[in-house]
Amino acid sequence: MKLIKPNINYIDEIQAFKHGFVQNWKELHGSSQLSKYSDIKKWVEYTSLLENNPPEYCVRTSTYMAVHNNKIVGMCDFKHSFSHPVINRWGGNIACCIHPKERKKGYGAKMLNLLLCECMTWGIRKVLVTAKPSNIGSNRLIQANYGIFEKEITIDDGTKYNRYWIFI
Ligand SMILES: CC(C)(COP(=O)(O)OP(=O)(O)OC[C@H]1O[C@@H](n2cnc3c(N)ncnc32)[C@H](O)[C@@H]1OP(=O)(O)O)[C@@H](O)C(=O)NCCC(=O)NCCS
Repeated sequence: MKLIKPNINYIDEIQAFKHGFVQNWKELHGSSQLSKYSDIKKWVEYTSLLENNPPEYCVRTSTYMAVHNNKIVGMCDFKHSFSHPVINRWGGNIACCIHPKERKKGYGAKMLNLLLCECMTWGIRKVLVTAKPSNIGSNRLIQANYGIFEKEITIDDGTKYNRYWIFI
């Protein structure tokens, strides 16, 4: 598996990846709002903008596709800044998802590991990763990447999140 930045050479694969979520009524985490884009080329441009020249109201974000045998099995992103009130409380720096048909094959753990290596190349050595206590897969994924549990928090709407730190 390798992480690749979204680019127009993968338009068909991105479309197929997105379709896998729509078909299964699953939410697309960690894909910089791919679900909102019908024009994939525009989404590719948006991910580039978010990384290189983010609008004032957005946090600088790097998005990656996890590609295995030329197929996109997952997507992930990380937000570079920690000062945003959502990121530093319950959002965390990292979000990710694996295609519904490709789960529980070890791709998620590998993808997060590769993403942490990318964080390091950006000079980031410490990330906050959060998961709802009910999301067993997400909690296990973080633990598999040496996430250190800090505490459980409850935000204003009553949703609970586990906060973990990963030191790279
Ligand atoms: C969370 C998610 C990324 C995990 O991806 P994955 O490819 O299935 O994870 P892996 O196969 O690498 O599994 C990692 C560990 O979690 C465990 N796991 C994964 N899904 C699980 C589940 N639904 N229930 C229990 N354990 C689970 C695996 O057994 C493995 O455990 P191990 O370390 O003891 O071997 C995937 O389920 C997903 O995309 N979920 C929806 C989006 C989401 O919740 N994203 C996370 C928040 S941003």
